[in-house]
Amino acid sequence: MTYAVPYARLIARHYDALNAVLRGGSQDAAFYLALARESGGPVLELGCGTGRILLPIAQEGIPCVGLDASRDMLDVLRSKRPPPSLELVHAAMESFDLGARRFALITIPFRAFSHLLEVPTQLAALACIRRHLAPGGRLALDVFDPKLASLARAEEPEALAVTAATPRGRLERHDRVSRDAARQVLTLRMRFVAEAPEDCGEGELQLRWFHRYELEHLLARAGFTIEALYGGFDRRPWAPGGETVVVARPG
Ligand SMILES: C[S@@+](CC[C@H](N)C(=O)[O-])C[C@H]1O[C@@H](n2cnc3c(N)ncnc32)[C@H](O)[C@@H]1O
Repeated sequence: MTYAVPYARLIARHYDALNAVLRGGSQDAAFYLALARESGGPVLELGCGTGRILLPIAQEGIPCVGLDASRDMLDVLRSKRPPPSLELVHAAMESFDLGARRFALITIPFRAFSHLLEVPTQLAALACIRRHLAPGGRLALDVFDPKLASLARAEEPEALAVTAATPRGRLERHDRVSRDAARQVLTLRMRFVAEAPEDCGEGELQLRWFHRYELEHLLARAGFTIEALYGGFDRRPWAPGGETVVVARPG
């Protein structure tokens, strides 16, 4: 089946190099690894991408499933020769069915949930998650809390967002952002400028922004109780304009 997911071609190819810079100091990988160890597994990551978070968990021998709707992202992960403790599934998080399998922990790191732009899709994903959690199992995810000053800008002109070194030379990503406030959807248009001609081109992603209490109500409506809500991966108290990190369980 083909899923309408834009993490294809250049976005997938450049994902690790750019996010080593953008996400390098975020401690998100350590946060999810700690939860995975606590759970004992098995762990299911939705939107696992290139395995930035999941690969270190699987390398500890914890049984893992990584699910993603982008074949190109999964191909990057496969090229890293994951251990046998990691199984990969090409599927959409709003419609997956892994049969009778149940997980002690289901994670959705680095804003992958924000790619679900509409409430029915978000609820469908949360229903799939509930069905796949083992008794006592937990859901952990993070989204960004929008900065109020940014929300006032419907359009932001293109600007250099990040520079990285790749084996093929220097790579730059230039971003142009537009916001549809009525839908709470941000469109990110990326232009890749690189030394290698095959690395140059464009990509586009859309992200739904969630306000804190909206996310709390959404989870409650889907039958989850929030166990912890943090403002960062070091478990600091929640504050506006940063990360919203949630750990929840059914019930
Ligand atoms: C920002 S990346 C996060 C990747 C990884 N979790 C990490 O932290 O590096 C978002 C991932 O979600 C995937 N994705 C987007 N929409 C999806 C959907 N509806 N179902 C499954 N995966 C999806 C994308 O293909 C991409 O790999």
